[in-house]
Amino acid sequence: MKRVAILISGGGSNMLSLLDSMAETGHPATPCLVASNDPNAGGLARAAARGVATAALDHKPFGKDRPAFEAELQKIIAAHAADIICLAGFMRVLTAGFVTPWSGRMLNIHPSLLPKYRGLHTHARALEAGDQEAGCTVHEVTPELDDGPILGQARVPVEADDTPETLAARVLVQEHVLYPAVLRRFASGDRTPVYLP
Ligand code: GAR
Repeated sequence: MKRVAILISGGGSNMLSLLDSMAETGHPATPCLVASNDPNAGGLARAAARGVATAALDHKPFGKDRPAFEAELQKIIAAHAADIICLAGFMRVLTAGFVTPWSGRMLNIHPSLLPKYRGLHTHARALEAGDQEAGCTVHEVTPELDDGPILGQARVPVEADDTPETLAARVLVQEHVLYPAVLRRFASGDRTPVYLP
């Protein structure tokens, strides 16, 4: 059974979809920790209400010292004996010093069809470009931002009257399907990408 630490920064809807999935009979992974860099992240209370260990590590007191923040985060994750890290709306960039030791064991979900639109404001950028479809990607985390081997993608159509918000909502529905599907496969040792629909 693989132990999964989920890192969040906000409401944690993807985190909840992962917890729901891991609660299913026969799942090859179990949650060991939900941690946030924002002590006020709504997802922390949601995870605690489901009986999952939580931790808050505010990045602000560390200022620009990312390695010091990451060393503390690593200690917390190690204390919960995680085998896999899932970034789920974790909005801090992690340096190579943190990422490299977790190579092949850390996943991220990104709200675009990578390699398009790394970084922020993905939906606004897709609309500005006149894209006919959008989507989300789960990938292995490497030191390059929103890079790394793709483990799954889900596509949605762009509608003529979409705003970044309506498109984000349509993509998020698919994120909640894709991430659990990828984690289930990944935790069982299968890295074959999942393509939805
Ligand atoms: C999700 O849309 C996720 O793809 C995105 O943040 C949202 C978090 O929502 N992640 C990124 O933009 C990472 N760069 P959630 O807290 O409800 O899961």
